[in-house]
Amino acid sequence: MLSKKCSMSNYLRIQSFLFPSSSLHFQENKLSTKIKFLNKFNLPSLPVPKLNQTLSKYLKSVEPFLSEHELAKTSAIVKKFEENEGPSLQKYLELKAQNCENWLSEWWDNTAYLEYRDPVTVFSSPGLVYPLQEFSNEGERLTYAAKMILGAVDYKILIDKDLIPVDKMGNNVLDMNQYKKVFGTCRIPRPTRDELKFNPDSKHIVVVRNNNFFKMEVITSDGQIPSFNQIFSQLNYIIKNSEILGAPVGILTSDNRDNWCRAYALLSQDKTNRNILDTIETALFLLCLDTPLPKWNDDTLTLAAKQCIHGGGFDGNSGNRWFDKTLQFLVGIDGIVGLTYEHSPSEGQPIAILTDHIVNYIKGSSWKTLPDVKTDKYPEPLRFNVGDELNKAVDIAALNVDKLSDNLDLNVFNFTEFGKDFVKSQKLSPDSFIQIAIQYAFYRIHKVPGAHYESAATRKYIHGRTETIRSCSVESVAFSKEMLDNSSSDAKKIVALRNAINAHKKYTIDAINGFGIDRHLLGLKLAAKELGKDLPEIYKDIAFAKSSQMRLSTSQVATQCQGVMAYGPLVPNGYGCCYNPRPKDIFFAVSCFDDNPETDATNFRNALETSLMDMHNLLARNQQHKL
Ligand code: COA
Repeated sequence: MLSKKCSMSNYLRIQSFLFPSSSLHFQENKLSTKIKFLNKFNLPSLPVPKLNQTLSKYLKSVEPFLSEHELAKTSAIVKKFEENEGPSLQKYLELKAQNCENWLSEWWDNTAYLEYRDPVTVFSSPGLVYPLQEFSNEGERLTYAAKMILGAVDYKILIDKDLIPVDKMGNNVLDMNQYKKVFGTCRIPRPTRDELKFNPDSKHIVVVRNNNFFKMEVITSDGQIPSFNQIFSQLNYIIKNSEILGAPVGILTSDNRDNWCRAYALLSQDKTNRNILDTIETALFLLCLDTPLPKWNDDTLTLAAKQCIHGGGFDGNSGNRWFDKTLQFLVGIDGIVGLTYEHSPSEGQPIAILTDHIVNYIKGSSWKTLPDVKTDKYPEPLRFNVGDELNKAVDIAALNVDKLSDNLDLNVFNFTEFGKDFVKSQKLSPDSFIQIAIQYAFYRIHKVPGAHYESAATRKYIHGRTETIRSCSVESVAFSKEMLDNSSSDAKKIVALRNAINAHKKYTIDAINGFGIDRHLLGLKLAAKELGKDLPEIYKDIAFAKSSQMRLSTSQVATQCQGVMAYGPLVPNGYGCCYNPRPKDIFFAVSCFDDNPETDATNFRNALETSLMDMHNLLARNQQHKL
């Protein structure tokens, strides 16, 4: 099946029968332009869960946040929804699912990303820190950068030829379409809803140094890849021609989407600027040659995460970026290397797998075998014309990104006491173990349950993205309380620990199979909107607000290398916590907002390390007793 688009005429006919007063329009997914999305493994479509099942799971998930009285009120609201508005909205979703490959995908792209008006920087785009390097001179930095470019191009060619290994979850083959969306892609700011542009056939990249942009050919017109020496000498040329700091036009892309959209319209009026925008937008990716950030009190991993998330503000590298590009690799002279990625086309895991490919490519020797190719192209400087109005927009964006970067409190660390192997030896799921440790750390500090988002991949379905795992549960709260109760016994704590981990694992299995709560509830809400109905009461209820104000925004992004992804929190009094569990250690990146008096990243890190060790020691000492 190549592409089962919404068959509109058939659909609208049934539709007007079912919903005579509505003027709804299901749109086919517009993202398919220029990219061939295949379903060569005949992946199934995302299911629409049963209404009563979602509602009973929802009631269970809100319990930790409500008093008895509130829970009784919420139960009545849920029952009313199930009997009144729910069934027709459910029918709408089922109908949509029958007529689309994935009933959620376009809604998700729009509501989770493209209609979001906060800056992509910090609020949406993660950074991924690569294994740290030591460069003793510019030549060593450029050697790494040249190999990084070649490794990325190598992967892009493998993607195009369908030669990358197909991801699997257990026996299930996963949807690989996200890989096709990351090279040559750019988000374009538009009023109310941004746009994604795909240019998979591009042959150039853009390199930025000291805010100066250059176009650089990395695939010749007849499809050849330049040799390492040719790429190296192009980079050397860029270094020699970028000593003077350029106007930080790139900083505009870090501003909120409305400000940036207005500045983008201004930029586009000038022909030279418009051509530069086209060159940047169509580039396969950006390579940012960064200057070091002041160290302050940060250790190198935390500093590296700052470079990768926001670039350190106006005096740092935030102008040496184009945050709308899906992929921006960065190579600092101080040995900080990694990438920033714009989240809308892809989840973190494909980016993590790309990372392992590049890191292995750099370590390997295949780059040495590339012969020189015929090309007389040298990097082309891209110089923006910046008038007074644009300068004002740049000044505002600079102030805003400074506030944003100053306000992001980060603590990134490598936890080396144990890794996945220990947890597996206890016959427990490593991911669920870590999630429950995060829950416990939150409870230890705040003494209240923390609504907790974990991403689960729904890529066993065509065009699948994610479902939320609600990691805060009745069982996770019971476990945290048990652990903090000095009068409790180990036996009771172990039962509570296993209950909490197993409840999380059960939710995970539901989520990856498309039977979570949040995407279904979102679909029902958007169905009501499209049908012109009032927002059902269930969405205005305190239970909905409390359980979806995610004070913990977490995900597993696993690389084999010493990599770690980092991103900001979802809510003002929340934390971001991304982790990379490896057999013997775990990388964590904790974030929160500095101006919030309730949160502190270092405090959370300490609580998390203590929680992990408490759980480890509880299991280890009881295992020893048994032996
Ligand atoms: N006893 C022993 N071993 C166990 C176990 C148990 N009870 N439960 C799980 N394991 C093993 C698994 O078999 C697996 O083994 P492997 O390393 O040989 O493959 C390993 O432990 C890891 O399993 P687990 O920790 O349970 O979780 P997972 O790796 O399946 O990951 C999710 C769970 C939710 C993270 C994953 O399904 C997912 O969705 N990942 C994508 C997340 C995402 O989208 N991130 C990007 C956000 S931008």
